[in-house]
Amino acid sequence: MSIVLTTPSVHFLLQKFEMIIIIATILLIICAFLLLVILMGVFYAVDFFLDLPYVATKRNKIETIIKFAKIKEGETVVDLGSGDGRLLFAAAQKGAKAIGYELNPFLIALTLIHTKLKGLGNQVWVERQSFWRADLKVADVIFVYSLKKTIKKFEDFIYKNARPGTRVVVNLHPFPDKKPTKEESGIYLYKVTN
Ligand SMILES: C[S@@+](CC[C@H](N)C(=O)[O-])C[C@H]1O[C@@H](n2cnc3c(N)ncnc32)[C@H](O)[C@@H]1O
Repeated sequence: MSIVLTTPSVHFLLQKFEMIIIIATILLIICAFLLLVILMGVFYAVDFFLDLPYVATKRNKIETIIKFAKIKEGETVVDLGSGDGRLLFAAAQKGAKAIGYELNPFLIALTLIHTKLKGLGNQVWVERQSFWRADLKVADVIFVYSLKKTIKKFEDFIYKNARPGTRVVVNLHPFPDKKPTKEESGIYLYKVTN
């Protein structure tokens, strides 16, 4: 008699348990999706208030930037708006000390995680401050990826604050009042002369 009663009730409990697992999984997926949407919203909201939007440099352009920069072991490279840190890592692979200036907390976190994973903690740094407050005196090489609206401001800032001889590699828009020493597929190389 007890066997007859137990079997269906165990079966019923198992069915209930399965149901709970399915509902919990669905709720988890919905929560993860909502979190992703919220995080993306916050990411783009942060982006909106900064001087430049986040646009990552493509692989083929990184090669040209590194080729133009001619980085020597131990030199200091500064990236003004370092994004996810891809130029910092490329510079560090050439033996540079690479310093990025970045204000987007998501991109700073991403850079820090990759720095740890790549074991580059003693070569790559991200300063959580505006690139307009960057210490350019330490730089042998400066990277800039700017929109047209800010390129003149970068030109003035760099030529006023960087040491003579500093190489500047500019992505996308050239400096309006300086002549590049090299140019290739939207990448421009300058040498600070003042
Ligand atoms: C065009 S992206 C370049 C990213 C990276 N250098 C690359 O080449 O892949 C510009 C970056 O500048 C950052 N940014 C914008 N305004 C800034 C500011 N005032 N100070 C520091 N970083 C800023 C943005 O968050 C963005 O990551």
